[in-house]
Amino acid sequence: MSPEQALTEEVIASFAKTKDERLRTLMQGLVKHLHAFVHEVEPTEAEWMTAIRFLTATGQKCDDVVRQEFILLSDTLGISMLVDAINHRHATGATDSTVFGPFYIEGMPERAYGENMAFTPGTRAIVHGRVLDTHGAPIDNAVLDVWQTADNGMYSGQDTAQPHGNLRGRYRTDAQGRYAISTIVPVSYPIPTDGPVGDMLNATGRHPWRPAHLHFMIDAPGYRRLVTHLFDENDPYLHSDAVFGVKPSLMVAYREREDGVSREALYDFVLDRSE
Ligand code: BEZ
Ligand code: FE
Repeated sequence: MSPEQALTEEVIASFAKTKDERLRTLMQGLVKHLHAFVHEVEPTEAEWMTAIRFLTATGQKCDDVVRQEFILLSDTLGISMLVDAINHRHATGATDSTVFGPFYIEGMPERAYGENMAFTPGTRAIVHGRVLDTHGAPIDNAVLDVWQTADNGMYSGQDTAQPHGNLRGRYRTDAQGRYAISTIVPVSYPIPTDGPVGDMLNATGRHPWRPAHLHFMIDAPGYRRLVTHLFDENDPYLHSDAVFGVKPSLMVAYREREDGVSREALYDFVLDRSE
């Protein structure tokens, strides 16, 4: 065994007495794969310092309210979508999930069926449909926590000029499982590039754009929480999402309504029963 291999083995063995079996698996796997990575790319000491500075800056960019640069890093490296895929491997007939993203804010206003959540300009739209179980039965009193960017590509909270709760809200289904959201058509927008993740995208020739979408977190008693988006099926960035979150089943059309100016999108969500 080479001294380099012996070092890797020694570090792995140092975790052998970890009482928590899962923690031991995680730590030994982490060391094994990090060492293999270092072995493969053979960084110079200066490169390793650059990596440490990058991770330090990623942590320093985070705040308690809206900025989570580590989620952004996980998202742009495809880790978030890999974790999502592993945790939703079995097709159950439920709606596909996708990335949570860093812009959710808890405790946004409760809104009535069909209530407007857009207090900044845009193309008016109604997004509506039903929440169903995997047998097609309606789920009443499901809570749909929704959020999207304004026409300037920024979320309220992130953009402090927007009114509190703009383009955010919690809707409930009625007895027939129906929900309706009055809003604006979402726009494609760049993820934040004024931090280390932006530097990484820039240095590697990647663009920061996400295809237009509306975020949903749907909860109902007795059902598994669903975190997902609805994407505009005509968006030019559908095939190059900066965070790899697009799934074919999550597309909607924003069709023109009879008034000739506003749009309408229809989508039924399906929830899995919790065990
Ligand atoms: C979002 O859709 O809000 C989002 C997701 C991942 C990274 C950045 C933003
Ligand atoms: Fe988003």
